[in-house]
Amino acid sequence: MSRSLQGAIGVFDSGVGGLSVLRAIRAAFPNEHLVYVADAGHAPYGDQSEAHITQRTLAVGNWLAQQGVKGITIACNTATVVAAKTLREQTHLPVVAIEPAIKPAVALTRSGVVGVLATTQTIQSAAVAKLVALYGADKRILLQACPGLVEQVERADLHSLQTEALLRQFISPLLEQGADTLVLGCTHYPFLRDSIQHVAGEGVVLIDPAEAVARELMRRLADSDLLSSQTEPGTVTFFTTGDVVQTHNAVTHLWGSSVVVQALPIS
Ligand code: DGL
Repeated sequence: MSRSLQGAIGVFDSGVGGLSVLRAIRAAFPNEHLVYVADAGHAPYGDQSEAHITQRTLAVGNWLAQQGVKGITIACNTATVVAAKTLREQTHLPVVAIEPAIKPAVALTRSGVVGVLATTQTIQSAAVAKLVALYGADKRILLQACPGLVEQVERADLHSLQTEALLRQFISPLLEQGADTLVLGCTHYPFLRDSIQHVAGEGVVLIDPAEAVARELMRRLADSDLLSSQTEPGTVTFFTTGDVVQTHNAVTHLWGSSVVVQALPIS
C-alpha cells in the first residue's frame, strides 16, 4: 500500500478521457489527493466485450482499493453501464460513476429531439435503454455510436480534418432529424467540445455531466464523513497500464501541464 495514495480519491477510465472528470473533481476538491488510472493497455473499452470491460473495471477498482483510497470514481461511461453494479457489489468503498446525461438533456431540449454520442457498448447497453425509457417517453432520443473518436482523443488529435470528418459523419444525421441538444456520453468527448460545437453549430447545446459527478462525489464523501480537512493543495498521481510515454504525452496535452505518469502493470 503506497502512503501517498492512502486516503486519496481514486479515478479511472480506459484512457485519458476521464481527465475531463478529473479536472471537475480537482476544481471541486483542491485539497484532496487524487490518483488517476488510465487503463490504456486494455483500451478502448467501447468496442470490446462486456466480460472484458467488467474484468478491467474490477482489476482497476480492486487495485485502487488495495492502495487505500477512500472512494472510487468511474470516469468512463462504458465501464459504468457495463460494470458499475458489479464493482459496487464487490467493494465497501463509495463508488460514484458517470453515465450519459439523458435526464438533463431531456429537460433542456426545445425541439424535443436529443442526440446521445457514446461508444458502441454504451449505446447498446441495457443501462442506456433504461435511461431512455425513464426520461425519454415524450421525446425523441437518438442514440449514436461513435467508433474511432476515443482513439483520436488518445492521440490528442482534437482538430484535424480526420477528426472533423468523423464528427460530421456521426453528428449530421442527428441534426437532420432535429436534434438541438447533444449528450457527450463518453468522457473523451469533452476534449472535442470545440470541434463538436463547430460541426453542430452554435445553437446546439452540449451536455457534459462531469461537474454533476464531482458534486455527487462531494455529497457521498461528506455523508460518510470522508472529506479531508487539510488546507494544503492536494497531489494528483497518474498511472497507466499502457505505454508510459504515449500516456504521458496525451495527459500532458489534455491536462495542460507536464506530469509524471507511472507504469501500472495490473492484468
Ligand atoms: N471514456 C470512455 C467512456 O466514457 C471511453 C471508453 C472506451 O475506451 O471506449 O465511455
